[in-house]
Amino acid sequence: MKKAFVLVMAMVMAVMIAAGCGGSGGQKKAEKAPEFLRVGTELASEPFVFQKAGSKEFIGFDMDLIRAIGHQLNMKVEIQNMKFDALIPALSAGNIDVAITGMTITPDRQKAIDMSDPYYVTGLVVVVNKDNNTVKSVKDLDNKGIAVQIGTTSADRAAKVPGAKVKKFNTNAEVFLELKNKGVEAVIIDKPLAEYYLAQGGGKDTAKIVGDLMDAESYGISLKKGSPLTTKINRALLDLKNNGAYDKIYTKWFGEAKK
Ligand code: ARG
Repeated sequence: MKKAFVLVMAMVMAVMIAAGCGGSGGQKKAEKAPEFLRVGTELASEPFVFQKAGSKEFIGFDMDLIRAIGHQLNMKVEIQNMKFDALIPALSAGNIDVAITGMTITPDRQKAIDMSDPYYVTGLVVVVNKDNNTVKSVKDLDNKGIAVQIGTTSADRAAKVPGAKVKKFNTNAEVFLELKNKGVEAVIIDKPLAEYYLAQGGGKDTAKIVGDLMDAESYGISLKKGSPLTTKINRALLDLKNNGAYDKIYTKWFGEAKK
């Protein structure tokens, strides 16, 4: 009885080992084959990701960073443009491997997807028209019209303003246009996006930032929940920070001063 049991166990183990070997061999091959890093982004969020007029090339801080990460991982980076609120569904469906577009790491998002370690720290600000002398900070926005981009942390923040009439748009260009047209009193948006708009995005003569930075936010690279790439991306990010490549990219887009 006992002998028979031992014999059966030995056979079962032999089969498992054989199957295991074959399985992992096959898996290794399957893992090596796709050397492409399929990146989803949303354009028109300067200086993180945008295109120059007449060019299809994706440029900006995020694009340089993800290409450097791709290089580090020995993967070919393929970038495609999507609507901001389509990125997380695309990750979950496996249509893209990562998303990078100034996306803030939030506990809510982390329930649905993986997010890398932070690669950029900032926060939200309020932008109003230059001739607006009544709104000095977010505290003055109760019951007022606020424009935000759909699916962003700005939309979450605006939803917390008592009585606010929140207007949501697909792109930040539309958000700023709504402000310019006085369809809203204010815009809530990431500080660097506001600064870029004021410096060279067409808002210089018409808009201004008021109040302080609201709650600090960190940008992360997004991946499908449980993706084996998450640890690799974090490792690559760390390597780029240690070897000076991250600093070079940072300085290229934001200058020395802000660091
Ligand atoms: N950081 C904000 C968020 O994650 C805004 C991101 C805006 N990015 C963009 N591509 N429009 O919600």
